Amino acid sequence: MEISGKKAFLPPRELVRGSNIQTLGAWADEWMNATLTDPDGFWLDVARRRVIWRKEPTIGLEGDFHSARRKPLRWFGDGTLNVTETCLDQHLQKHGDKTAIIWEADEPGTGCTLTYRELHEKVCAAACMLYLLGVRRGDRVVIYMGMVPEAAIAMLACARIGAIHSVVFGGFSAESLRDRIIDCGAKLVITQDEGLRGGKIVPLKRTCDQALVDLGQVERVVVFKRTKGEVPWTEGRDVEWKLSDATYFPAEVMEAEDPLFILYTSGSTGKPKGQVHTCGGYLVYASYTHETAFDLRDNDVYACVADVGWITGHTYIVYGPLANGATTLLFESTPTYPDAGRYWDMVDRHSITVFYTAPTAIRVLAAAGDQYVFPYDRSTLRVLGTVGEPINPDAWMWYYKIVGGERCAIVDTWWQTETGGIMISGCPAATPMIPGSATLPLPGILPVIVGADGKPIRSPGTGRLCIAEPWPGMTRTIWRDHERYAATYLEEVPGMYFTSDGCSRDKAGNHTISGRVDDVINVAGHRMGTAEFESVLTADPLVAECAVVGFPHEVKGQGVCAFVVLISTTVPEDLAARLNALLRDKIGAHAKLDVLHIVPGLPKTRSGKCMRRILRAMAKGEDNFGDISTLADPSVVQAIHDIVRAQPSS
Ligand code: PRX
Repeated sequence: MEISGKKAFLPPRELVRGSNIQTLGAWADEWMNATLTDPDGFWLDVARRRVIWRKEPTIGLEGDFHSARRKPLRWFGDGTLNVTETCLDQHLQKHGDKTAIIWEADEPGTGCTLTYRELHEKVCAAACMLYLLGVRRGDRVVIYMGMVPEAAIAMLACARIGAIHSVVFGGFSAESLRDRIIDCGAKLVITQDEGLRGGKIVPLKRTCDQALVDLGQVERVVVFKRTKGEVPWTEGRDVEWKLSDATYFPAEVMEAEDPLFILYTSGSTGKPKGQVHTCGGYLVYASYTHETAFDLRDNDVYACVADVGWITGHTYIVYGPLANGATTLLFESTPTYPDAGRYWDMVDRHSITVFYTAPTAIRVLAAAGDQYVFPYDRSTLRVLGTVGEPINPDAWMWYYKIVGGERCAIVDTWWQTETGGIMISGCPAATPMIPGSATLPLPGILPVIVGADGKPIRSPGTGRLCIAEPWPGMTRTIWRDHERYAATYLEEVPGMYFTSDGCSRDKAGNHTISGRVDDVINVAGHRMGTAEFESVLTADPLVAECAVVGFPHEVKGQGVCAFVVLISTTVPEDLAARLNALLRDKIGAHAKLDVLHIVPGLPKTRSGKCMRRILRAMAKGEDNFGDISTLADPSVVQAIHDIVRAQPSS
């Protein structure tokens, strides 16, 4: 079938029976009720049904997108809870022996499982350990680990105490880790001796030590011994992760609006933004969206292969699935270790029913060939999800046909660290699927496409994606910088939340996200600010100035292209390697240049502003740069263009 001229597929029939939302009509009713008829009533009802409260909330939303510029929005403001009672305690009586976590360690078939009872005990024991080390309600704890169950246990142990965790992705460099530790004011860091990924060692403890040099603020470092390799030890500061026999630790009663965690995102300036998610609203939204977007069933074996260092890992490996009493898989390795069949081998061995990954991984695996898929039994799969970047229709079709055998629903889920959970996505049994389109907003979500004139486009069209009404899962503020929060999200289109994404909507109301309209690039699902790259590159003594832009990349979605002006005319042979080493050191292994152009100057206006639009067009291989008459020196465009054409890729 076709929808608005695009190929579309009906949801597989087998999915309808037993599904939570079975028809497009039922979906539309829920959306109308949640979004337009009675949002407060809808969310209060969801909150009461899905979350265990110490005191049930009677208030829904307080504030709007105008007032939120001065004062953070509030949801469920008079409710109190501890998130771990929803994620753990409530399941003990009926489902204590159900598997909560399947840990698939780096080597295929190794790892362990934890039941809800075991997980509860470990979280209590870890909370006890942290408490004895002085962690209290409101303290910040940084978690710098790989994908081991202890990372989830550490997050939940913080939540149990009422401490605010900030997980820093294990690929970040010492300097990035240090910046985040300083910004959130952590007094304790939890790390591990070494991580293991694809058979390689990740020196987490060493990097952590480097990050902490002369940083008195961190009193304790808890080290989980994963590989038991030799690592340096600072007596008096470092302690080994050891769980006591304590099997119970009382849950601290928190206000709904107390922070649950801080998670940093790259920004349009070099400084990362500490996104603050709160206990009540975040949990309600994580639980509701996890069940709705994946059409969760009781016996599901649910696998999200993201990393807990990103929001996807927070919401859809830890908090959402555990709140819903699901079995959630934690994956330590990479999609291609030991070969490109790893995911499907896991699906076969663990009988996975719902599988959630990123388009980049799908493209890598599709390129490796179907022969890695077919040997494995994938008949348990029901729902296949993608997240993190736009998925091209070819990759979508491969996922649908080859992996899913045309009998699974695909959900292309659009959301952000800031939104806390899925915002635009199909509903597996109810809504038609369109390859490459995230399709429809979830109940409670009112997307608006804003045109160049700042006005909403009511009919089909293309523009900037905004959200018109608050939802419970959104970040409330940026840690210790509410002004920046207001400036980034609430001022672009007054009265709305601005997503920084471009989007088009068709006649049937389906949304297709085109990517960022700000200076953020999305490389293999990793969100990075071009300004971050630029501040690192200009720190090299050879570099006078530079501009970094993204360009379309077949596998990674976007690649990174740098235009660099050097101080001297001699170009060292190893310049690219040298700059990449610097980026790895300052940001992390995921920050790498794909293309480097040495240019005589940057296209700047008379006021000194670099016109990135011209560089973006060049990096894309275009020849038309539009109006360049406002440049201080228009001839520089021709000079750069000649260089780019002479060296299309490097
Ligand atoms: O540009 C959008 C893209 O990822 C950005 C958010 O990145 P981050 O905060 O790291 O969160 C990623 C995981 C939720 C968005 O602004 N993005 C995310 N999902 C999609 C997407 N772009 C297109 N389609 C998606 N499904």
